[in-house]
Amino acid sequence: MPHILALDQGTTSCRAIVFNHAGEIQAVAQQEFEQHFPKPGWVEHDAHEIWSTQIGVATEVVARASLRPSDIVAIGITNQRETTVLWDRETGHPIHHAIVWQDRRTAPLCDQLQAAGNADLIQERTGLLLDAYFSATKIAWLLDNVPGARAKAEAGKLAFGTIDTWLVWNLTGGAQHITDITNASRTMLLNIHTGEWDEELLKLFNIPRSLLPEVRSSSEIYGETTGGLLNARGIPIAGIAGDQQAALFGQLCLEPGQTKTTYGTGCFMLKSTGTKPLISKNRLLSTIACRRNNQTTYALEGSVFIGGAVVQWLRDGLEIIRKSSEVSQLAASVPDNGGVFLVPAFAGLGAPHWDPAARGLMIGLTRGTTKAHIARAAVESIAFQVADLLSAMQADSENDLTEMRVDGGASKDDLLMQFQADLLGVPLVRPKEIETTALGAAYLAGLAVGFWQGTDELVHLQQIDRRYEPKMPRSKVDALRGEWQRAVERCKLWEG
Ligand code: G3P
Repeated sequence: MPHILALDQGTTSCRAIVFNHAGEIQAVAQQEFEQHFPKPGWVEHDAHEIWSTQIGVATEVVARASLRPSDIVAIGITNQRETTVLWDRETGHPIHHAIVWQDRRTAPLCDQLQAAGNADLIQERTGLLLDAYFSATKIAWLLDNVPGARAKAEAGKLAFGTIDTWLVWNLTGGAQHITDITNASRTMLLNIHTGEWDEELLKLFNIPRSLLPEVRSSSEIYGETTGGLLNARGIPIAGIAGDQQAALFGQLCLEPGQTKTTYGTGCFMLKSTGTKPLISKNRLLSTIACRRNNQTTYALEGSVFIGGAVVQWLRDGLEIIRKSSEVSQLAASVPDNGGVFLVPAFAGLGAPHWDPAARGLMIGLTRGTTKAHIARAAVESIAFQVADLLSAMQADSENDLTEMRVDGGASKDDLLMQFQADLLGVPLVRPKEIETTALGAAYLAGLAVGFWQGTDELVHLQQIDRRYEPKMPRSKVDALRGEWQRAVERCKLWEG
């Protein structure tokens, strides 16, 4: 029986999921990998470990689904975006750990570029705001700080890639150095209007053109696996999208105005804006949503850096829970947050504040505060941040939202989802399949190889699991959001 394999390379774990023709999950394999924090505000990954973990779970999931490798008709890839890898074209070895999207080390470089008056040009061309979040300054940092890197890059000996590019390079035995346009749109080097690398920006960031991968669409056959990977002869790699764009596609938010929020390591709200980019006036991002059948579509995006990661911090940093899944029960064991607010600005603040110098804060503590209140404040912080995104989005475009589609691991948490619906004041709709990121990658790959015929067919596969209606009185919502804003203001500009 033919199936599609989706590789979902996230910030904290690698997943591989097999989907059948009904878009249902047949099997999942997942493994976390190590996070490196060499200095405060720095976050790195070992790209080798990412590759070995990813191929490990991919091999495992095919066996788990009791399929023969020949049953996999295509592979779709989706990935944490912006994270930057530079490697030697000849040996295939990375020259340094990957610099992760959350990493703030290039904030001073961004400040310099800002002071020199480059922010408007960057926003016009790329749809992005000048911030350390994106790949361009991370590439520049590697070229300037890894001994010999710049000379090698200038001699054409190095390759740059976001994680999609790194995975395809390895899956094809180094035959393909490509990226899809959604990932390219997060580098801060792509002109989102033309869909091409921008020479002026390359000059501005001092990045040699020879480093860059070829930009391809999100749904086409890019190449085949080689070297007996997955114990198979050559499986087409046929879909790629950055994880948030993949989730938007997986939710089939294809009409302008349709919006989703994904609750992963971070939280990302994307609203489809159709075939035209909408340049934000409220510090949101314009990004490429997808390119297929020669048509490029765009989205408006709000990005929150720490979403589910705050729960991971409760587990690994504070050690007040043993498993992430314990957080809901602990948070629900108290009737409210007891006046405690936690602003998880561990990696600065993303949209709509864009403050790399902000740091996390917990306020409102009293002698009566327990770990349950802290857990509740952590869960609520996810919803407060997402509510701030929606406010910015509504200021940027018509207030036409009739429902918010939600997905990602934390969308299973009923307490969080109800609180979120209350804060947003619109119903939330959770699909039966919350692995929407992987599903989107599977759809893109399946469409490219004719496994599915078109998006009309996909619409019929969608099933809703649950709808959350807002219930909290508006006056209470306003009071809570007011207190949250006070806490956010206090954590700004902390570092330096
Ligand atoms: O932009 C970063 C984003 O792609 C990371 O997603 O799911 O790993 O939080 P996630």
